[in-house]
Amino acid sequence: MNLAIQSRLLLGVAALAACTFDPPRAAEPLADDSAIAQGRQIFRFDTFGDETLWTDTLRMHEVIAAAVDPTTALSVGLKVDSEALPAPVVQGIKDGSISLKSPDTTIALLKLDAVVGLKGTVERVNGKDTLTHVGVTCALCHSTVDNSFAPGIGKRLDGWPNRDLNPGAIIALSPALPAATKAVYNSWGPGKYDPRFNQDGKNGPQVIPPAYGLAGIHRITATGDGGNLAYWNRYVSVTQMGGHGTFDEARTGVHVSHGTDDQVSAKLVALQAYQLSIAAPPAPAGSFDPAAAARGRMLFNGAGGCANCHSGPELTDANQRLHAPLDVVSEPEAAGVPSYASRSATREYRAAPLHGLWQHPPYFHNGSAPTLVAVVKTYNARKALGLSERQVTDLAEYLKSL
Ligand code: HEC
Ligand code: HEC
Repeated sequence: MNLAIQSRLLLGVAALAACTFDPPRAAEPLADDSAIAQGRQIFRFDTFGDETLWTDTLRMHEVIAAAVDPTTALSVGLKVDSEALPAPVVQGIKDGSISLKSPDTTIALLKLDAVVGLKGTVERVNGKDTLTHVGVTCALCHSTVDNSFAPGIGKRLDGWPNRDLNPGAIIALSPALPAATKAVYNSWGPGKYDPRFNQDGKNGPQVIPPAYGLAGIHRITATGDGGNLAYWNRYVSVTQMGGHGTFDEARTGVHVSHGTDDQVSAKLVALQAYQLSIAAPPAPAGSFDPAAAARGRMLFNGAGGCANCHSGPELTDANQRLHAPLDVVSEPEAAGVPSYASRSATREYRAAPLHGLWQHPPYFHNGSAPTLVAVVKTYNARKALGLSERQVTDLAEYLKSL
């Protein structure tokens, strides 16, 4: 069955089954290098057969060929992998002989596997390179580049969320969607995506999270829906990307199956091994004030009460418990937005792991805090911590250092 997004919208959520909370799992065995290398390949380049959705249903190959020149692609946050570009292409971009205003250039970049997260099939048709299929990969949302060549063009940074990417605006370019659905997609903005909208028809986009720093954490997603990464990887690849395979979840009533050839299951072990191998990036030297951070650390572990929930090596108590929305400062959601927890399998939130925080503003599942100072101010007000202005900055400096 192929996923027509609009038809999924008509399906209400089935009554939520009682929350079955599977016990934390033992640590994953260390993967060998070949599994990690295989997983990297899958993470970057595998579509799981999702061309069925992106090409056959959404007809994105036609949109790209007609109107998406590289300048437009970069403006919706797509990234180009400079290491995939051969020297003459690099030279051509530098001297302007390769036009960044022509969709043909986008097709040439797709042929080189140089557009991060997009996988194109380019064939000669009537003597011309033609984009016949396009699909998406995990890297679309969970990789960016270091801008070392030009803004939006550089070396891949896997696991770093692409907060420039506007997935809603990209999907809304499809000619196959009704206006009302496009309006929802266009409402999300850069760095956000609602990974449940096409299942429950509710609109509450989430900040695209990092896919690094997750080793040792056995509650995956902001609501801890899965006991391991593979659970959510299967969810996304099947229900969101449209890959060929099956996902069944009694707690949310989501049952989706595409194709008869399972192109997901056999890849999950390697894919997970790769993600677990990606560490959170350390704070760049000089990016925080060490003396203030040291004072902030005392507050984090003391008067701030942060360590009550942000505990252990990953600074989260996720393996022990989740937290009711009432205790979580990023709820209630903005006016008109449904509680994200209420749409999930657990109906609660996971204390977020905090390593690499400096890298990925805005914060909280809904992006309600634009900076780390704003995070601390939110806690200070909502939990009545009574921190002085100086203490607020000290605590924020500590968060920047993690
Ligand atoms: C269109 C954008 C998009 C694509 C493509 C995408 N994701 Fe995500 N991903 C998200 C969003 C948004 C969330 C947040 C969901 C939540 O927390 O409920 C997320 C959450 C995650 C998480 C949970 C992180 C955590 O902190 O627990 C993992 C792991 C993940 N994605 C891996 C993947 C993998 C692997 C793929 C490819 C199979 C993939 N994603 C494809 C947008 C995307
Ligand atoms: C009652 C448990 C609890 C306490 C106490 C707590 N947190 Fe949190 N924290 C959470 C939960 C749950 C989330 C995830 C909320 C969400 O996803 O919107 C979170 C999210 C965060 C985030 C956002 C991370 C991200 O990736 O966006 C930061 C930063 C943070 N907390 C810092 C702190 C600081 C600083 C303190 C102390 C002042 C603190 N927390 C106290 C449970 C707690």
